[in-house]
Amino acid sequence: MTIIVTGAAGFIGGNFVHHWFERSEEPVVVLDKLTYAGNPATIQSHLDAGRCTLVQGDIGDRALVAGLLAEHRPRAVLHFAAESHVDRSIHGPGEFIQTNMVGTFELLEAVRAYWSALEAEPKAAFRFLHVSTDEVYGSLSETDPAFSETTPYAPNSPYSASKAGSDHLVRAYHHTYGLPTLTTNCSNNYGPYHFPEKLIPLMILNALEGKPLPVYGDGQNIRDWLYVRDHCEAIRQVLAKGRLGETYNVGGKNEIRNLDVVQVICAKLDALRPKADGTSYASQITFVADRPGHDRRYAIDPTKIEAEIGWQPAESFETGIDKTVTWYLENTAWIDSVRTGAYREWVSKNYSARD
Ligand code: NAD
Ligand code: DAU
Repeated sequence: MTIIVTGAAGFIGGNFVHHWFERSEEPVVVLDKLTYAGNPATIQSHLDAGRCTLVQGDIGDRALVAGLLAEHRPRAVLHFAAESHVDRSIHGPGEFIQTNMVGTFELLEAVRAYWSALEAEPKAAFRFLHVSTDEVYGSLSETDPAFSETTPYAPNSPYSASKAGSDHLVRAYHHTYGLPTLTTNCSNNYGPYHFPEKLIPLMILNALEGKPLPVYGDGQNIRDWLYVRDHCEAIRQVLAKGRLGETYNVGGKNEIRNLDVVQVICAKLDALRPKADGTSYASQITFVADRPGHDRRYAIDPTKIEAEIGWQPAESFETGIDKTVTWYLENTAWIDSVRTGAYREWVSKNYSARD
């Protein structure tokens, strides 16, 4: 059998491929557009080993997807591909609507046609797993209960609205056509291969390069951090055991304020790579203008996935951030490879203050 994974040259999809091949020999076909966020180097070892094939293409290209499905006859399609960065969605929402909503629609149409034509047994076994985010639920106050699967959708950014739209399409394809779908809504991931525009890798690399560490607003916004490999394991288990048409919230019960996250990173770097002048990396923390529409707090109630699927995260924030900081210190070749080209151009246009 084979699975098709969209967006696996990116952060979570790439980690998912590593995680998958530590547990399975089942081949993986990756469909990825290789945008600024897609880096084949992330999965190069599996491409070289011949168990993983990378097809450069757009999920919105229905004919391309139909051709891949006909050629590889997968038992599942796992859908990670997306435009994923909130700040970029504020500067330019168009790509987010195109990929996250229109692209997911085209992908669903190709998958529906393939699935409809399958024989009874492979048809019953087939799964479409949609990887989504807790941001679709909007923002919590400090005293609100955590997001559950029944929390009403209230997306606040163009990114989260586009992901909410894709979630609704997936839901509708199950409800209307009976497509065997599963949806996961996960909190903030961190770990290896995280593109250095997101909070944790940006802070690690800016610190090492002696640049300001830009904390938005008062730094008191809260995110619920999950080590990426724990998310990958959740997805693997939902694929195997999830009930069709259901959604599962995935989170690490690790609610931390942004400023505290940055201070933990600085303390780790102070210990592992002390600055020559003896000062702490924390001296580089700089408060900058807030993100427009900045959600105050996200928190996930993972009761359903724990009770139904039996999933639990393996890493605490303490162990996960250790592994992450160490990875960034040791993998300079990967970091250099993503900090070039389109990414650099975009950063210099939109974030010139940080360079
Ligand atoms: P990422 O930006 O690192 O990777 C996205 C990948 O999708 C890249 O390889 C990119 O080239 C590819 N891609 C983009 N547009 C495409 C298109 N039109 N066709 C084919 N490929 C395309 O994102 P990520 O952080 O790995 O997120 C993966 C998924 O998980 C997304 O759906 C995101 O919404 C969701 N998610 C992310 C987080 C997080 O903390 N990063 C948390 C919850 C959910
Ligand atoms: O909650 C899940 C979501 O987490 C995913 O769906 C998104 O794809 C992913 O990018 C992430 O979104 P966030 O907006 O929470 O992540 P980001 O790393 O961009 O920011 C985390 C927090 O840190 C947020 O409150 C904004 C703040 N921040 C971010 C950056 C890049 C700063 O204070 N300074 C920064 O430079």
